[in-house]
Amino acid sequence: MNITVVGTGYVGLVVGACLAETGNDVICADVDQKKIDGLKRNVLPIYEPGLEDLVERNQSQGRLTFTTDVASAVGRADVIFIAVGTPPDEDGSADLRHVLAVGEVIGRHATREIVVVTKSTVPVGTASKVAAAISKHATRPFHMCSNPEFLKEGAAVDDFMKPDRVVLGVENDHARSVMAELYAPFVRTGKPIIFMDIPSAEMTKYAANAMLATRISFMNEIANLCEKVGANVDLVRRGIGTDSRIGPSFLFPGPGYGGSCFPKDVKALVRTAKEQHAPLAVLEAVEEANERQKHRLFEKIERALGKELKGARVALWGLAFKPQTDDMREAPALTLIHELLDAGASVVGHDPAAMHEARRRLGDRIEFAESNYDALEGADALVVVTDWNEYRHPDFARIKAALKRPIVVDGRNLYDPAKMRSQGFTYLSIGRGKE
Ligand SMILES: NC(=O)c1ccc[n+]([C@@H]2O[C@H](COP(=O)([O-])OP(=O)(O)OC[C@H]3O[C@@H](n4cnc5c(N)ncnc54)[C@H](O)[C@@H]3O)[C@@H](O)[C@H]2O)c1
Repeated sequence: MNITVVGTGYVGLVVGACLAETGNDVICADVDQKKIDGLKRNVLPIYEPGLEDLVERNQSQGRLTFTTDVASAVGRADVIFIAVGTPPDEDGSADLRHVLAVGEVIGRHATREIVVVTKSTVPVGTASKVAAAISKHATRPFHMCSNPEFLKEGAAVDDFMKPDRVVLGVENDHARSVMAELYAPFVRTGKPIIFMDIPSAEMTKYAANAMLATRISFMNEIANLCEKVGANVDLVRRGIGTDSRIGPSFLFPGPGYGGSCFPKDVKALVRTAKEQHAPLAVLEAVEEANERQKHRLFEKIERALGKELKGARVALWGLAFKPQTDDMREAPALTLIHELLDAGASVVGHDPAAMHEARRRLGDRIEFAESNYDALEGADALVVVTDWNEYRHPDFARIKAALKRPIVVDGRNLYDPAKMRSQGFTYLSIGRGKE
């Protein structure tokens, strides 16, 4: 099939590369000239495991091309995926400007009967708005489909190639059969394609992210309570995660959720609920709890260093909002960095993938270290912010020798509190007893 993917960010690039990998002829179109120039040379704008190989192979074999000419990319497509950003507007609702702009371009430039797929995360009713934008200019029939994306940054290629399920909101058999054919190679192991109406598909994406964010905030609050009452959240997590009704995923406490999706999607769903006079009180509390949680690491380091925080040098391991990505959108590390700088501390950061992105955002407001151990030289304390694998089993003797004071704040509960204390560390983590 001839596929055009409009928007070549985390989602669009993965979708385009994976659809090319299964033999489709794919054009990825984006208005960002620099991004497209880089991609033509196989230089990826993002870090995503496995994606570079996929782009390189499919581009060299002629199934994947990149362009800034969105209009002509639209003109040669049978299926068009809209995968542009939907950032939060000032009131928290999803900003649909980019999505609707693409709708207009599709209306003006489609040359044949097409299926138009909204891949971006968009509120219920958006597919109708896109259809209206297309209709203003369309001369050919088109069929809408809502196909929310559930990939996780850091495992995006795997998630797309082997999805738990594919959700497709369609309103007629044409869209249904085209999309079923397109996705058939990805569900050969029997994972379901779930067809539904378009509003339900649009809502499914928000409900999924809202549920996951709820689990995280819930466990963060339980962890905070564990600290007060002297319980250990690691044990509580195992105790409840083995209940088949609950399950073990998304029960790890930490410094609050971040990234490009949970914060904005929770906000947008809360906003929709308010507009509809059907408030989502649980979700409003989830968001408030997350805002509070983002300050927990600073509170701990402030407690550990006391008055000496001013003028202290604090090392951060991990800047990305989670491991295996360079994405720093709404990263807890950013909140912590700003709080440390405001308190008069200096910061030296390390991240296996996000240093470039951190430099772009923070400039010379913090220092950057070549290795995680370099970051410790002359630092007064270490804060582990992101649970990259390479931080899981470090050389503790080396950490202790490099730090001026043996203070470790572990925002991901990577280390054993008893062992850390027996090695002489002042060790603070999340929810593991009274500190
Ligand atoms: N990142 C994720 O993990 C993830 C997962 C699932 C769903 N989503 C959703 O997918 C959508 C895209 O997210 P992303 O993280 O890939 O965003 P992104 O910001 O990484 O990429 C968006 C791209 O769209 C391009 N763009 C904007 N307007 C355009 C236009 N008019 N024409 C052509 N290109 C245009 C931008 O230049 C950018 O390259 C969002 O709605 C997001 O909520 C994201």
